[in-house]
Amino acid sequence: MSAPQDEPGSTQEFETLVEYLKNNRGFDFSGYKRSSLRRRVGKRMQSLLIERYGDYLDYLEVHPEEFIQLFNTILINVTGFLRDTASWEVLADEFIPRLLTGKQPHEPIRVWSAGCASGEEAYTLAMVLGEALGHESFRQRVKIYATDADEEALVQARQASYSARDLQPVSPELRSKYFEEVGQRFVFRPDLRRAVIFGRHDLVQDAPISRLDLLVCRNTLMYFNAETQARILARFHFALNDTGVIFLGKAEMLLTRANLFNPVHLKHRIFVKVSKHTLRDRLMIVAQAGNLELNNHVVSHIRLRDAAFDGAPVA
Ligand SMILES: C[S@@+](CC[C@H](N)C(=O)[O-])C[C@H]1O[C@@H](n2cnc3c(N)ncnc32)[C@H](O)[C@@H]1O
Repeated sequence: MSAPQDEPGSTQEFETLVEYLKNNRGFDFSGYKRSSLRRRVGKRMQSLLIERYGDYLDYLEVHPEEFIQLFNTILINVTGFLRDTASWEVLADEFIPRLLTGKQPHEPIRVWSAGCASGEEAYTLAMVLGEALGHESFRQRVKIYATDADEEALVQARQASYSARDLQPVSPELRSKYFEEVGQRFVFRPDLRRAVIFGRHDLVQDAPISRLDLLVCRNTLMYFNAETQARILARFHFALNDTGVIFLGKAEMLLTRANLFNPVHLKHRIFVKVSKHTLRDRLMIVAQAGNLELNNHVVSHIRLRDAAFDGAPVA
């Protein structure tokens, strides 16, 4: 069986499929890199012995449950605690202390883990900040918003329950400080977990979370083509405080011509926001983030959603 991408007319058929998913399933894959997107769709098709994208579209129409399988194949949730440990150490040893000295002792600290998968990254952040602040201050000051497009991954993340194997990268000391042993599993401590707020958020379509001190978006931007990455990064710029820091994945670079961020530790993919003070610069970022009408809507949506998030008593 030939690979679907080799078929004549397959590009057009593939774009029709992407359009169908957007219109009928409400998920927009049009900004995803075509090579990996086609590979992953092809994988689903091969397991169903379907050769043409058009036939796969027909199959999706009569088997609506197939969308979940496709979604799971495209949005791979591979993750881990302290993924790329050396980079987390640099963040913890250099940047978190700097962030804290720039704040008043009781000032809130707002962090976003965007593309958090099953939660390991968000709980890693909780441990790093818990260690830096002490638990009392952590509970009072820290909010970690952790979002993903994949609801199933978020269900796991909210349960906060991991196997001994998942916890291998975590030292025994941190493990006993932050996890409770329940049967064969390790559950992140509920009192500290309250600082971690999970929610569904699509980086392509939804308004960003705002007033952030730290934005962690690792191994997620790489799904998107350059244009979509640029749009997401413009929104990230808007989302961060003037001294805010962004922490990307090891294999990711900032593909943006607008000089929105300066590398402060390139090897570990840590960047600081470049503040834009002129109206022209600001308008350019707004333009890059999407159209103006959308952005007015985005700004009011962000304010409303932040107020709701801040007022909500539970994760
Ligand atoms: C490889 S995982 C990375 C997890 C974690 N950040 C890490 O580095 O270990 C990529 C995550 O991005 C999420 N993702 C893909 N497209 C997304 C989108 N449009 N909006 C939000 N999350 C998305 C996937 O569901 C997946 O959980």
